[in-house]
Amino acid sequence: MRRIAVLTSGGDAPGMNACLRAVIRSAIHHHLEVTGIMQGYRGLLDADLRSLNLRSAANIIQRGGTILGTARCEEMKTEAGMEKAIEVLHKEGIEGLITLGGDGTFRGARELSDRSGVKVVGIPATIDNDVYGTDFSIGFDTAVNTALESIDRIRDTAESLQRPFFIEVMGKNRGFIALEVGVSGGAESVLIPETKTMIEKVCRRINQDIKRGKKSSIIVVAEGDEVGGVFRIAQQVWERLGIEYRICVLGHVQRGGSPTARDRILGSKLGVAAVEALISDQTGCMVGEVKGEIAYTPLEDTWRKVKPLDDYLLRLLPLLAT
Ligand code: F6P
Repeated sequence: MRRIAVLTSGGDAPGMNACLRAVIRSAIHHHLEVTGIMQGYRGLLDADLRSLNLRSAANIIQRGGTILGTARCEEMKTEAGMEKAIEVLHKEGIEGLITLGGDGTFRGARELSDRSGVKVVGIPATIDNDVYGTDFSIGFDTAVNTALESIDRIRDTAESLQRPFFIEVMGKNRGFIALEVGVSGGAESVLIPETKTMIEKVCRRINQDIKRGKKSSIIVVAEGDEVGGVFRIAQQVWERLGIEYRICVLGHVQRGGSPTARDRILGSKLGVAAVEALISDQTGCMVGEVKGEIAYTPLEDTWRKVKPLDDYLLRLLPLLAT
């Protein structure tokens, strides 16, 4: 193998740059040429490529976002798009491709691996952490810490004015962020898609808190909760209790900022592992970290298999939020 390419796709995640740094530097260490594909699969279809060298990776380990840019590319899901992508890879003499992202990214990567003859390895990078085959995905730890900082601040005002607060965190399909910030932020309730949300129970809880003399209630809601988002949930509670409340949607704040040490380390490890996987002729797999060891998972398993939530945390939550 002589030439590899790397792209970041879907939602950006803090730690992507640390991972790109590891890909670039380890590839060059192994005498490979490295090409950066700009704006994810969009840039592949447009042949928007940049040659990367050791200096391209300078001073990026601490930066959020991705120096390559990213996109959600609908054309890549079409047959014409896939054919165009394969044509560009062949024309540019790319023999190995590393894709950073989540399930959407890996679906495209799987097909490229099957059809192009190019070796393709994925790296899990999404704040949602909803990828099977790795304990954590790049960006999750930073997002949790960012959300937690906001929740700590909100508790100050919630307690001063004695109001329940409904706080929405990201997680379009899963409640990984909500569960971790719920436990670490001492939330009174956490509403996630994996467990059935019962408004009556939320109301009971708020009433109990008031009776016990609690000055505030923090209710963390995952954006993908099946009741339909924080506004709907808060409205339904208001219809039953009629008490004043406030809502805060943390939104994209959670996706930005300097990555935590954990995300930089995970990004560094997985970047090197992906290059080594390509060199050893692996393809169609994702490199992840499971129980501290590098793990290789077929790309299709990363979205077909369901990564379980931490049951222990789920059990702790009601026990500690009393
Ligand atoms: O990166 C994943 C994610 O943050 C989801 O939690 C969220 O629903 C989505 O991205 C938002 O994406 P966009 O930036 O395209 O609105």
